[in-house]
Amino acid sequence: MQPIIQVEQLRKEYGTTIAVEDVSFSVQPGEIFGILGPNGAGKTTIVETIIGLRKPDRGSVRVLGLDPQRERTALAQRIGIQLQQANLADRLKVWEALDLFASFYARTVPWQPLLEQWGLADKRNTAFVNLSGGQKQRLFIALALLNDPEVVFLDELTTGLDPQARRNTWALVQEVRAQGKTVVLVTHFMDEAEALCDRLAIIDRGKIIALDRPAALVRSLGLESRVIFESDAALNLARLRTLPQASEATQNGQRVTVYGKSDGLVSGVVKELEAQGIAFQNLRTEQPSLEDVFIHLTGRQIRE
Ligand SMILES: Nc1ncnc2c1ncn2[C@@H]1O[C@H](COP(=O)(O)OP(=O)(O)OP(=O)(O)O)[C@@H](O)[C@H]1O
Ligand SMILES: [Mg+2]
Repeated sequence: MQPIIQVEQLRKEYGTTIAVEDVSFSVQPGEIFGILGPNGAGKTTIVETIIGLRKPDRGSVRVLGLDPQRERTALAQRIGIQLQQANLADRLKVWEALDLFASFYARTVPWQPLLEQWGLADKRNTAFVNLSGGQKQRLFIALALLNDPEVVFLDELTTGLDPQARRNTWALVQEVRAQGKTVVLVTHFMDEAEALCDRLAIIDRGKIIALDRPAALVRSLGLESRVIFESDAALNLARLRTLPQASEATQNGQRVTVYGKSDGLVSGVVKELEAQGIAFQNLRTEQPSLEDVFIHLTGRQIRE
């Protein structure tokens, strides 16, 4: 299959800052492709270069077979964009925004059904400034879909939303893909990338440090599970560490964490606690996540 997006050895500098260096990846039709990384990693620069808003210093980009620098007008008709810094005039009403954006395109879908689909039908006469955060985000998605695009770029779509609104927005992103569109999703939320993306590139300091399916990334690094519990009894940590399934055990106040391979780790820990006659509460397991992948690869948390 011909990729929807092909990026090769992209580089972008701002003065002495190298924002993006040697970035290569491709996006296949129908994928939700994630660009994940901490603040300042270069995510927005990559996306804005892909859509022709910034000029690369080196490398090549093709989107739908087009060169975003030389064929920007043709490309703009076929892609949908929600930019990180998106804003509209306070007094602009929802329907006026749709009407205005529709005028930018040669071909659009009727916007009334779009409003209904995105739960904004009763807000059509509301001024932008009076929409809630989640409604604004839904309006931006609706605007990005006006020209029935083949690819949609969403940059930090859920930043600033409460957890419930974030989850709702995730469902909307899946809905966009279900309509047959390819989605490029930029985020610094690990859980969002893990929940939504078919494949993702983890960006750190301008470079791709990992690229794969989220589950494959977690698996490939052989990261360990954790068993966590609380206990106020004097417990023998050294014996937990020597369990065949365990690689390490740590204690922080009442909270004990045992690391190891998930097979048999829980039962091993419970048996050992019983053998030691230790009472414990809130025993739970945590599986390795993308967060662990990031820490493993960079030695840092994503939010410094
Ligand atoms: N127009 C610009 N002029 C100068 N430097 C810039 C410009 N845009 C971005 N940068 C710098 O390039 C680097 C990458 O910025 P970019 O906005 O691409 O990161 P990001 O991953 O999108 O970050 P965030 O998560 O905060 O949105 C940063 O060091 C930033 O300060
Ligand atoms: Mg950004």
